[in-house]
Amino acid sequence: MDILGAAGRINVQGEEQQKLDVLANEVMKEALRHTGRVSLMASEEEEDPIPADPSAASGKYVVLFDPLDGSSNIDVNVSIGTIFSIQRRVSADGCANVIDCLQKGREQVAAGYVMYGSSTVMVYSAGNGVHCFTLDPVIGEFRLINHDVETPTTGKYYSINESNYTRWSPGYQKVVRCFKGVDDEGTGKNARYIGSLVADFHRNLLTGGVFMYPADTKSPKGKLRLLYEACPLAFVAEQAGGAASDGTRPILDIEPTELHQRTPLVIGSRDDVAFVERTLQEVEATVQ
Ligand code: AHG
Ligand code: MN
Ligand code: MN
Repeated sequence: MDILGAAGRINVQGEEQQKLDVLANEVMKEALRHTGRVSLMASEEEEDPIPADPSAASGKYVVLFDPLDGSSNIDVNVSIGTIFSIQRRVSADGCANVIDCLQKGREQVAAGYVMYGSSTVMVYSAGNGVHCFTLDPVIGEFRLINHDVETPTTGKYYSINESNYTRWSPGYQKVVRCFKGVDDEGTGKNARYIGSLVADFHRNLLTGGVFMYPADTKSPKGKLRLLYEACPLAFVAEQAGGAASDGTRPILDIEPTELHQRTPLVIGSRDDVAFVERTLQEVEATVQ
């Protein structure tokens, strides 16, 4: 099957689409459009919201997704994933519209991800804890392997693309120096960075740790997408006792204004996220 390599197109994010990005997007749309429950979809790969079949126009839910997360890892057999967010439709009769998509993460009905790694796992929360399933290929079903997952309050890992160091604010530079133990108040963490958000998040969820993708001089609003990546993972993180922030406020409290809005993201163990927020604030205060 012809699934490797670039599709030869640039998506709405300005990124080169891989063939698997396109395929995963089609699979998601196909799986959701006939359910009767979903009236509208929104995808990282498409500029506009995608209506479900006309027969589903009264569906109560809207689903937003990153069909394939970790595009740069596809052709090298490194873990990748799919992230989804489910919102309750708020518009009255007629066709659901973009307003139904632009709801705060706090309003999510459910959210989660599937990770295609050494096994295929699905992790989700419907607002009542976080539950992990593993795909059993023999029976073709997901088996519950871990329910009510609680993430450690502090972790041993920090995850960030450190090649961007010179592009970060002094606050993030300080945070990373502390995690490396360079500065006095060093917390001495170990570094882990895969480059697939799902995989970095999943590891840190289970072992404890903090993932960061700050705004930088190349991406002044951050790289990651609020509605397809940050909000669903923030929902899972909070439900597991962790936290997610844009550096100053909880991700779940951000009022979205655009479908493809980007955000800085600090996510993972509660005390580690709090440490990052506090350090950013302290450095900001001394710089002014
Ligand atoms: P996507 O493949 O959906 O575009 O997402 C890629 C994201 C995310 O998975 C990862 O955390 C981040 O990009 C990695 O970015 P860098 O290569 O800049 O570190
Ligand atoms: Mn992604
Ligand atoms: Mn993607």
